[in-house]
Amino acid sequence: MKSLKSFIIFLIAVVFVCILITMNAKAADGEKVFTAKCVSCHSLELALKKQYDQKKWASTIDRMKGFGLKITGNEASAVAEFLASKEKK
Ligand code: HEC
Repeated sequence: MKSLKSFIIFLIAVVFVCILITMNAKAADGEKVFTAKCVSCHSLELALKKQYDQKKWASTIDRMKGFGLKITGNEASAVAEFLASKEKK
């Protein structure tokens, strides 16, 4: 009985850690994609000056494709999410 209880606590801990890792990976991803894809033309500061929501970021990133940005749909939404999450409230 005692070991079952420890096992359940262990399982909850594992699930919790997995959720944390997923959240961190997501946040880091958008930033990484930005550094890899956007910084060649302009800085992160320029982007962070803009107060856009996720939808406006998606359309801005779409417009950047016209300047020669190569980005996948997944990467674009990661960047949009990252930049929208950086908005000053
Ligand atoms: C090939 C070069 C290039 C790449 C790559 C690029 N941009 Fe741009 N970006 C530009 C140019 C040129 C301008 C200025 C012209 C304009 O605003 O129409 C600009 C302007 C901007 C602006 C200010 C204008 C606005 O509409 O708010 C933002 C914000 C921006 N880019 C974000 C991004 C993001 C985010 C990425 C990466 C996903 C990116 N850019 C990748 C060339 C690029």
